[in-house]
Amino acid sequence: KYSSTAWPFVKDTYINDFKVIDYSKKYDYSKSTHAFHCMVYARMNEQTFTIQRPRGCVLMQMRFDGYLGFPGGLVDPGEDAIHGLNRELEEEMNLDLTKHKVTEKDFIFSQHSSSRNLTLHFYALETTLPELEKIEARVQLAKDYGSEVLGIVRVPLYTMRDGFRGFPAFLTHAFIGSAREQLLHTLQHLKLLTPEEISDALAAKPHKG
Ligand code: GTP
Ligand code: MN
Ligand code: MN
Ligand code: MN
Ligand code: MN
Repeated sequence: KYSSTAWPFVKDTYINDFKVIDYSKKYDYSKSTHAFHCMVYARMNEQTFTIQRPRGCVLMQMRFDGYLGFPGGLVDPGEDAIHGLNRELEEEMNLDLTKHKVTEKDFIFSQHSSSRNLTLHFYALETTLPELEKIEARVQLAKDYGSEVLGIVRVPLYTMRDGFRGFPAFLTHAFIGSAREQLLHTLQHLKLLTPEEISDALAAKPHKG
């Protein structure tokens, strides 16, 4: 039941400390802290890179604590959950909420850690590549840029010819909470990577040089 390999995962199994739960059961966890995070992404079909053809462009952030994670955060007591997520996206990314707003339609999945008394809800907000570039360009003016957030990064969604550089190498970084699993699950769910591409990336080993 308890797995540290994190892939693939199914409901009611644990990944590290986190159990995948039904969002409809979130009120069972009303005594827990709730955090909401979001993947902002665009689909790409045209050849943008000469080396590879990633099917999408996905944003993560370098956090103040040195871990990679997604923008988002804790919902304030009494605050509407989706409002809290959009507020965090504005604070951390300077997201223009008149143009881009997360709604319940963007929900992906939820997880709960009883040892941390933390319930995590994950969303994915689709935009176009030109809009995503505008979102990136605004990040340095975010309220929390330079303190909570040290930068926005694109995930390399390709594997280079040595079989390791690119996505497999990216996965060796340190990720906060269950952000790595949120990334893997959502890439598969959105069909930005196939299950086989994800398994291959997780199995890849760097070449000794
Ligand atoms: P403050 O505004 O400083 O309170 O932080 P915040 O509200 O932005 O909260 P934060 O984004 O740090 O999220 C709260 C907790 O959720 C963190 O302490 C982590 O344990 C966890 N967490 C943060 N980012 C992620 C993420 O991208 N994925 C997952 N699964 N967990 C995360
Ligand atoms: Mn925050
Ligand atoms: Mn945050
Ligand atoms: Mn916060
Ligand atoms: Mn804050």
